[in-house]
Amino acid sequence: MTGDVPSAGLLAGRRVVVVGGASGIGLATVRAAARAGAAVAVLDADGDGAARAAAGARAEGAPACAHRVDVTVEAQVAAALDAAATDLGGIDAVLHVAGIMRGQGRDVRDVDADLWAQVIAVNLTGPFLVAKHATRHLTPGAGVLVLVGSKAGVLTGSGSVPYGASKGGLHGLALTLDRQLRPRGIRVHTLCPGDIDTPLMRRSLDEARANGTAADRVAEIAAALGRPEDVASALVLLAAPVSDGVVGTVHTG
Ligand SMILES: NC(=O)c1ccc[n+]([C@@H]2O[C@H](COP(=O)([O-])OP(=O)(O)OC[C@H]3O[C@@H](n4cnc5c(N)ncnc54)[C@H](O)[C@@H]3O)[C@@H](O)[C@H]2O)c1
Repeated sequence: MTGDVPSAGLLAGRRVVVVGGASGIGLATVRAAARAGAAVAVLDADGDGAARAAAGARAEGAPACAHRVDVTVEAQVAAALDAAATDLGGIDAVLHVAGIMRGQGRDVRDVDADLWAQVIAVNLTGPFLVAKHATRHLTPGAGVLVLVGSKAGVLTGSGSVPYGASKGGLHGLALTLDRQLRPRGIRVHTLCPGDIDTPLMRRSLDEARANGTAADRVAEIAAALGRPEDVASALVLLAAPVSDGVVGTVHTG
């Protein structure tokens, strides 16, 4: 996909929560969901960024609210999803995009347990907690939960040991949730992007260079990055009722 998807009306009347909507792929998803007709709740650890993203959605004509949440803290996740459900009058789709990348280019012998725990907490425990509490609110018979994984840990390995492990784990989590929730009419997918031009990716390339990855390899990756808008289009499509026949893991470039 190279342009904005012709998505007007695709999410008309749908109430969509974007977790991690303050930056990068999540921010593009907030915009795309608003343009597709959704009411949007933006949840993010960056409360000011979430508020800015919600203001942007309102500028597109969408009802929108924002709540600060650290996805690693269960009480915050529960409270933020409760607040989003109250503001939106219910929740039809939760798009879990939040994630971090650390340890790019680091030899496994140099990965300390704290770094491992930090990445697993945000990238694996976070989506578990969001799924757990989203399930209390998602509309039975019409609910959608999408977890953003990565090609790393699913199609390929990763330049980061904890990141690749977290995304492989997230993929297994979504397959398991789909098995449990599909009979209740809630679709669950993992959406696995390739390398996308976002602040996370730019920081990751800097870290890879600092940890000794060859400059020409880093330049090669930087030259081939995809657009956050193209991942956002796929997320909007998955959140829409037209995707009710879609099953399982979806990949984008
Ligand atoms: N950029 C890529 O190349 C790429 C490729 C594959 C997968 N992904 C995945 O896509 C997702 C979005 O990545 P991005 O590149 O847009 O990154 P980004 O850094 O631009 O955005 C990530 C967002 O998550 C939020 N966040 C981080 N930790 C959080 C926490 N504990 N609680 C709540 N919010 C938190 C950040 O504040 C930020 O707004 C991530 O899960 C990432 O792993 C990215």
